[in-house]
Amino acid sequence: MPCMQVTVGCDIGRRPLERVSGSLQRSITRIVRAVKPCLYGPYPHLNGQRFRQSLFRSLVRTIDPEAIFESGTFYGASAQFFLNVSEQPVCTVEKNRGFAYCAKRRFRKIPEVRVLVGDSRAALKKLRNADHFPPSYVLFYLDAHWKEDLPLREEVALITKEWTDSVIVIDDFKVLDDSGYAFDTYGDRELSIEYLGDEAIGPYEVFWPRCPSREEAGARRGCAVLVAPGAVPAVELEGLPELRRLPRSRTAATSALGL
Ligand SMILES: C[S@@+](CC[C@H](N)C(=O)[O-])C[C@H]1O[C@@H](n2cnc3c(N)ncnc32)[C@H](O)[C@@H]1O
Repeated sequence: MPCMQVTVGCDIGRRPLERVSGSLQRSITRIVRAVKPCLYGPYPHLNGQRFRQSLFRSLVRTIDPEAIFESGTFYGASAQFFLNVSEQPVCTVEKNRGFAYCAKRRFRKIPEVRVLVGDSRAALKKLRNADHFPPSYVLFYLDAHWKEDLPLREEVALITKEWTDSVIVIDDFKVLDDSGYAFDTYGDRELSIEYLGDEAIGPYEVFWPRCPSREEAGARRGCAVLVAPGAVPAVELEGLPELRRLPRSRTAATSALGL
């Protein structure tokens, strides 16, 4: 991500501001980014991954979701894409107040995008009882894994328990048979099927990107797509050029072998 170079003229000389005060620099960065995001260049939606973008478009066409939920808004680049592609309400949650402020500002004239400030798990718990949020046909995009916090397993467990006929896309996920896709690790934990476990996945079925990593663009982060049994016939999903399925037994075996 490009970093702002601000210089100050004072008795300490014209030194980059970030050397003077890290927290002051971060505050100014947030404000400038909110007011003039173009100074930083566009932050790419879905990691700049063209295949992932195409996968998302296909999922929207196939599922025809009633709403999109995103965990981890950051500056709202992907939320903007979700709205453009689906033309459905987008609910996105961001725990960092500075990022949430920027995203709220970005969408201040777009009521279809709701930016919630707080933890993704708490947001999901609220939404499952909210009148304004659908109990089925939601397309979830889980991307709130950053630094030491790892809410993913709880997010997935909440969704698979509470939402029927829905689909979950998980970013930064280990693709078992394609090591060219990057994925997140947190100490000895990694974002993988093994980490999620059968209990969190519940009745949802797991699909994988069909595109080999070497043909993907952008940051080439891996993903997995979890699909509720009633969301859309599996045969339709398998027919999509972007998705493929591995039998669950093979998934578990491959994972156990550390592949
Ligand atoms: C990789 S960035 C998200 C990028 C964004 N989805 C996009 O594609 O433009 C991850 C974001 O998740 C946020 N985050 C981390 N833990 C969170 C949590 N428990 N609840 C909500 N947001 C969280 C971080 O502050 C960070 O902004």
